[in-house]
Amino acid sequence: MSSTNQNILLHEISKLKSKQSQWEPFAWYKEMRENSPVYYDAEQDVWNVFSYEHVKRVLFDHQLFSNKKERSLIPVPRMDNRSNVNFVDPPEHRNRRALLAKAFAPRTLEEWEPRIQAIVDELITEIDSLTTADVVQKLAIPLPVTVIADLLGVPSKDRAMIKSWSDILFLPYANETYDDLAARKAGVMKEFYEYLYPIVLEKRKHPADDIITDLTKAELDGEQLTDEEVVMSGIGLLGAGNETTTTLISNIFYSMCFDKPGIYQELRSDLSLVPQLVEEVLRFRFPASIDRKVAQDTDVFGHEMKKGQMVVTWIGAANRDEAQFAHAEEFDIHRPGNQHHLTFGAGPHFCLGAPLARMEARIALNSFVKRFADIRPAEDFEVSDHLTDSAIGQSLKSFPVRLEKA
Ligand code: HEM
Repeated sequence: MSSTNQNILLHEISKLKSKQSQWEPFAWYKEMRENSPVYYDAEQDVWNVFSYEHVKRVLFDHQLFSNKKERSLIPVPRMDNRSNVNFVDPPEHRNRRALLAKAFAPRTLEEWEPRIQAIVDELITEIDSLTTADVVQKLAIPLPVTVIADLLGVPSKDRAMIKSWSDILFLPYANETYDDLAARKAGVMKEFYEYLYPIVLEKRKHPADDIITDLTKAELDGEQLTDEEVVMSGIGLLGAGNETTTTLISNIFYSMCFDKPGIYQELRSDLSLVPQLVEEVLRFRFPASIDRKVAQDTDVFGHEMKKGQMVVTWIGAANRDEAQFAHAEEFDIHRPGNQHHLTFGAGPHFCLGAPLARMEARIALNSFVKRFADIRPAEDFEVSDHLTDSAIGQSLKSFPVRLEKA
């Protein structure tokens, strides 16, 4: 088995290899939902499910579809330790998750809100006098990394460095570049570790009001986490909270300009619609996938799945399943039930950061809409010039928009 076999390569399954086709995978999703809703990829020995019902079943049924897996589509180097919530199933998962949830808990969302609002205000003030601004570089990228650094208690002056590390950790693997990229990622993990370690020691000596301090005090099975475990949890949270939320905020702007032109004015006339818009972007334009391992031979989906094989849930496809969402291929913030999308997962591993990501997106959009009378894409904007190599689904690395002052 070559080393690449440990990493599931999604684009080798979808055959969507160009950035442009990964950005708009929706025709392929539809074809798979309609013609091959349970599809076996022999090359990588991976089952694939596309319908809402099947995806949900895989995510909820941890006895049949386990997270204890040797292979994964997550391109971030694996950090196995007692506090890791990935790669583990209930009941073991429960205590680990409770520990992380506890680290978030004392800061209720209401307590976080003013800190997030202050960061948003500062970022928006920086673009206030511009006629064209890159909303990805100026808002969608700096907001999540600054927020998560602040909440963890890591100096926000280091945000550019943290962001560049997490960019590299999330870079997608390809057969041709596997070994070089694996070595690069291992180097970044080491740097990240060496950066956080002294911060953790400092927090043990001088506790502060932040999540790293909470983690240094937290107990798992009656024992405090070791310094190493706190560092690993910190890296996990700094990574998890970053790329995904950046993609959400970038896609909000893209959808307002291209998926539903005119919606910006609707929001301006009724700001209470902001949460609905955020949910519809999460449903409509977020090509996420999650994997699990078949824990026992099964034919629940009408095919013989063998113990040990992998299953990929194509969440972006499930989110456009007509059986769940009426006229699913249309961007419609008024459709009831949009919030039942699966972009934050489902079941025991449902995203712990979902309330935070939602809050960041809502505050950012709310403040932006109040400040600018209208937006439109820069005249020469071509999406193909602005796509990243992100592994969680193709996303924008820049998006210049024309701003009209309120
Ligand atoms: C739009 C933004 C986000 C999206 C789309 C997203 C998506 C997801 C998904 C799909 C899962 C489930 C993985 C699985 O079932 O294997 C997950 C889990 C998780 N997310 Fe997020 N996430 C986002 C933001 C965040 C943020 C801001 C944080 C924290 C700072 C975070 C922390 C976590 C953690 C700790 C887990 C693991 C939970 C567990 O396994 O019990 N996420 N996320």
